[in-house]
Amino acid sequence: MADQIPESTISEIRSTADIVDIVSEVVLLKRAGKNFQGLCPFHSEKTPSFTVSPDKQVFYCFGCGAGGNVFTFLMQHEGLSFPEAVRTLGRRYGIVVEDRQLSPEERARMAERDGIFDVHQQAAAFFRRMLLESPEGRTARAYLEKRGMRSETIERFSLGYAPPEWDALAKYFAGRRVPTTYLETAGLIIPRKSGSGFYDRFRDRIIFPITGVSSRILGFGGRVMDDAMPKYLNSPESPVFNKRRSLYGLEAARGRCRETGTAYVVEGYFDVLALAQAGVTNALATLGTALTAGHVKTLKGHVSDIVLVFDSDQAGIRAALKSVEVFRKENMDARILVLPEGHDPDSFIRKFGAEAFGAAARNARSMMDFLMEETIRKHGLSVEGKLRIISEMQGPLGAISDRMARSLYIRNLAEKTGVDEAMIAERIAPTNPPGGGRRGPAAAGGGGPAGEACLTGRHIRIERKIITMMLQFPDILPEVERRHTLELFEDEQLKSIGRRILTQYSTTGKYHVSDVIEALDDTEREMTVNLAIGGDVWDREGCLRLLAQFESGRKRQKDNLLQKIEAASRNNDQALLLKLLKEKQHRARKRQTIN
Ligand code: GTP
Ligand code: MN
Repeated sequence: MADQIPESTISEIRSTADIVDIVSEVVLLKRAGKNFQGLCPFHSEKTPSFTVSPDKQVFYCFGCGAGGNVFTFLMQHEGLSFPEAVRTLGRRYGIVVEDRQLSPEERARMAERDGIFDVHQQAAAFFRRMLLESPEGRTARAYLEKRGMRSETIERFSLGYAPPEWDALAKYFAGRRVPTTYLETAGLIIPRKSGSGFYDRFRDRIIFPITGVSSRILGFGGRVMDDAMPKYLNSPESPVFNKRRSLYGLEAARGRCRETGTAYVVEGYFDVLALAQAGVTNALATLGTALTAGHVKTLKGHVSDIVLVFDSDQAGIRAALKSVEVFRKENMDARILVLPEGHDPDSFIRKFGAEAFGAAARNARSMMDFLMEETIRKHGLSVEGKLRIISEMQGPLGAISDRMARSLYIRNLAEKTGVDEAMIAERIAPTNPPGGGRRGPAAAGGGGPAGEACLTGRHIRIERKIITMMLQFPDILPEVERRHTLELFEDEQLKSIGRRILTQYSTTGKYHVSDVIEALDDTEREMTVNLAIGGDVWDREGCLRLLAQFESGRKRQKDNLLQKIEAASRNNDQALLLKLLKEKQHRARKRQTIN
């Protein structure tokens, strides 16, 4: 469990790891003053409210309230436990975390993942050697050459070749005494029906290693070199491989994606290779499936512009229709690029070159424009046709959650078809209320988006401000301690956060917000980070004024209560008196629990 890892190791890793580095692997961050901003990976949004502070080493999303430090980011984003997050970072930064500090289940899970990654690495090296050096590899080398692949492309994508024997890979691993279970779970070998021994999944195929962002191999794709079926074969799903999330070429494309802000999503492995070879290095392919929300989530961490590339209008229309909802849920738009009849990106770029591809890409239309124009083209502008167009566009237009965007598209459709705008708008009701996917303040337990829903009172606003000050201006902590300011707090949560700050400060003589993050529960953590990450400017004078203002306010409140009690008893208003006395008792009890 977490507390079995020595605090010294945790804190060494915490102070070595850089949250901007770690978050950057999955979120496209742009500098914004002292902080970085990007699209939140934890909820769907169009304008960046996800903020990372390099000074404080914390992140916070002003949209959904998610927040924490480098460990909790990995826990939330990768679904890791705390020890797993510590270990992952430890490995990355070369800090040793002993194995026995994991629970047995965690250890088994980590060992399995590591084992599979390791097996993948070795298998890739084997396939690669087979392609480049073995006599059997000659046919594969000739095939790649025939398809115009240069050696730098083969290198860049670490292509390989699986030899034709039934068990070349199985034998290779048997010789290296690698546990069969990892090979089997990875899907590289398959048990024979006869019950004894294994045979290789990939035989006589060109091998495409599929890597994730951390450059580890998640699985493989393999293509035959003739007309045999199936043309392509992929690794099965495994603890490290999820086809609905993985994209071929992500690792190679990542840098260019970030530079350009654009990603091309193509259909085939060879399309990625051919584009990259022609200099279009920001292309990725789905693994034979339609684009899923998982893909969009992955992509939007890297780019703001996704171009879906199709080889025919029909494929484009089908995919656009299917993707409208996926993209809407992720609050992303996509553009659709349809290549001339009979061309896929591979053949297109080979024939027309990268410049022509770039020009076509610049003209790629937004998904909605594309759908509208294709639907109009399909049905024509007869009365019948117009009715069909409006009816077919009802779904996709209704799915646009942004009211402004929806009404602009409706106007556009009205102009294009000559149908009255109001009539169209009447037909198209939004399928979902805008912003429906967001986590409401109730679900965030009061610590969500600034916790405004629950913390309304004036004094609680001041309490928030005091905690903010403590988080952002630690010089004031001795003063807060001396004045027992926290004892006057009404809000239990704020008070508990304040106490933690003071405890940390008095035991270590310093306070750094990222150091206490893991000790907090979700609500407290999110609130703490929210308050810490703001860019307020503090000076000692202002702080002292704030403390004095808070104290006198509380005193007034107390005096006020006493006055009310006196008045109620003078007027003999028993009901009110009882209520006020209860309130007084309640406050006294609160103060007692503090002491
Ligand atoms: P090349 O013929 O090598 O140029 O491939 P392609 O990408 O042009 O072929 P195609 O358009 O037929 O396939 C596009 C993508 O769909 C491939 O890259 C694969 O990811 C996937 N795919 C095609 N055929 C199969 C198959 O038989 N099995 C599986 N699992 N996937 C396939
Ligand atoms: Mn092709």
